Amino acid sequence: MSITIPAGTRQAATLPLRHVLPRLLRDPVNALAGFGRAAGGEIVRINLGPLRPYLVSHPDHVQRVLRDNWRNYTRDGMFWEPVRRLAGSSIFTEESWDLSRRILQPLFTARHMASLTGALAETIDAGVAALEPHARAGRPVEASAEMAAIVARAVNRVLFGSRISQADAERLSPAYTIAGSSFGPRLLMPFMPYAVPMPGDRAFRQAVNTIDEVMYPLIRRSRAEHGDGGDVISALCRATDEDGKPLSDRRIRDDLVGVYAAASETTAMALTWLWPTLEAHPEVARRMVDEIDEVVGVGPVNATSLPGLRYTKAVLQELLRLYPAGWIFPRRAVADDDLGGVRIKAGAQVLLSPFVTHRLEEFWDRPEVFDPERFTAEPGERRHRWSYIPFGGGSRQCLGVHLYYIEAPLIVAAILSRFRTSVVSTGPYTPVPAAATHPRPSVRLTLSIRERI
Ligand code: HEM
Repeated sequence: MSITIPAGTRQAATLPLRHVLPRLLRDPVNALAGFGRAAGGEIVRINLGPLRPYLVSHPDHVQRVLRDNWRNYTRDGMFWEPVRRLAGSSIFTEESWDLSRRILQPLFTARHMASLTGALAETIDAGVAALEPHARAGRPVEASAEMAAIVARAVNRVLFGSRISQADAERLSPAYTIAGSSFGPRLLMPFMPYAVPMPGDRAFRQAVNTIDEVMYPLIRRSRAEHGDGGDVISALCRATDEDGKPLSDRRIRDDLVGVYAAASETTAMALTWLWPTLEAHPEVARRMVDEIDEVVGVGPVNATSLPGLRYTKAVLQELLRLYPAGWIFPRRAVADDDLGGVRIKAGAQVLLSPFVTHRLEEFWDRPEVFDPERFTAEPGERRHRWSYIPFGGGSRQCLGVHLYYIEAPLIVAAILSRFRTSVVSTGPYTPVPAAATHPRPSVRLTLSIRERI
């Protein structure tokens, strides 16, 4: 279907419910990309019955929402309710964003992250080594679970230093996976009252209970120790609010839960998409393995490996273009706004989605094709800055960008320097909406240990 936008109109075209609903029910993430593509990047309204959000995908419009007029577009409204139910008042909620950002930002700068590279490389190598028994037994592994387990080690290192026990870490990671994947139905039907039970609700509540059972004792211990470490929990325990008072346990818990959620599922899911993508592009896989062999050699990965992993980084950037784990970020307009000639009324819901923007033909040559070469060239003026938004942008840009580009290349290099991988599940893989998009069917891998000379 192609949509004609009448010239000079101040109203966005509305996609009718009978068109939208069957597509959203069948394949929601691709459906959204289809709506954006059919509109050629113009703003369209999606009729979801009780709710008619605007889909904003043109890079100019994205720039206005995320940067130029960002205070007008808040993270409020029903789309954010599941996040609030998980992370309470955290960096992801309006009333607490300023304070949380002020406390957390210094902990995720390029410089601070670089100082953790050695420790992260060690942690990651140990996580990847734990895959060896599966390889020796010839047992296929579930890529998403294994990626989540390795990423969790890295995230735990950054958040808790060496404070968290193995047993607690092993409870936390699956609880987050369940919490993140069980609110998919609520994301698709945000207008459903919470009094009406939906699939996933009970699993979500149980997962949040498990998370709390681990987090609160950790916070109490950390407070008692007066830690001066650069880990996030110590910094939150030392921090004070606008009145100079220490943060409450609940407030610390909320930010820890929010950051853990933002850091773990996204990275794990991005890395899960890597395996079927490499399987479909053996020439990319070969070039990456060559680079890793040259840089890491017989290993293990360490802090000095990172600068040489340039092609690997380009592959990861292109992966986030085609499969941006943070696939949707909703906003609510505070006041009326003019977005590229379209009137956005105060209170309206606005949806931004890198999955949609990254697939617009107007800004990407052959957008459906996986091609890391897009990111190997010197950074130039060729691309619209706001056409590539896997980490959002502006004042609320993802805090984890530097961490991601340390841990993800190290994880990939650690895996490919130890193992040959082969995907044994069969595609095609469809992106499933959840806190982070994941592939369905699930990706299964076999690993064989590489001979080291
Ligand atoms: C593949 C990896 C990741 C992706 C695709 C991703 C994506 C995003 C996106 C799109 C946003 C903006 C949301 C919005 O504007 O509403 C965001 C925000 C955020 N991300 Fe990430 N993220 C990733 C990894 C991480 C990591 C490793 C951390 C660890 C610290 C992290 C922490 C955060 C935080 C704290 C915010 C909120 C920032 C703010 O509101 O000021 N993310 N992320």
